[in-house]
Amino acid sequence: MLVFGLDMPAYELKVNGSVRKVDVPADTPLLWVLRDALDLVGTKFGCGMSQCGACTVHLNGDAVRSCTTRVSAAVSGTIVTIEGLSPDGSHPLQRAWIKYDVPQCGYCQAGQIMTAAALLARNHKPTDTEIDEALTGNICRCGTYPRIRRAVREAAAAMRGEKLTDTGVDVTAGLASTTSCRQEEVRA
Ligand code: FES
Ligand code: FES
Repeated sequence: MLVFGLDMPAYELKVNGSVRKVDVPADTPLLWVLRDALDLVGTKFGCGMSQCGACTVHLNGDAVRSCTTRVSAAVSGTIVTIEGLSPDGSHPLQRAWIKYDVPQCGYCQAGQIMTAAALLARNHKPTDTEIDEALTGNICRCGTYPRIRRAVREAAAAMRGEKLTDTGVDVTAGLASTTSCRQEEVRA
């Protein structure tokens, strides 16, 4: 909803189940609104050109690049960020991410999870090809792709009420130990 103010438009955004009011120019990227106005800093800035996926959030259930989505284009929609994916970090993807210690530096991981969540919302049994296609625009400079794929497959199985037995890849190879900061990246 657009609410006219004295200096600039005031928008009411539906973010993570709450209505939030922001006073910003219409062409402000949604990413800036989320991070700077609403302090939802789990969503990251990478390229600013829809090229890396670090800024991915959900708009009406679709994975979108918030760096190139104008706030004016998001006012009538429902926005979900990594902070709102689950109330307590218990989304199957977040659990699988922690189980397989997916992040390395962690910077890309919120975007990876949000893209994967949009995929699993419409496809509970994605093939590896479908996982790769869905996540192809999410760049990880640390090369965590094998662990991401494994975690997505595990989360999909959990959402189907199944236990994944086919490991496919050795997700434990070369991993450092889990750290609390990595787990925080997964949760928010
Ligand atoms: S920061 Fe949006 S796609 Fe890279
Ligand atoms: S974990 Fe470092 S960029 Fe993906």
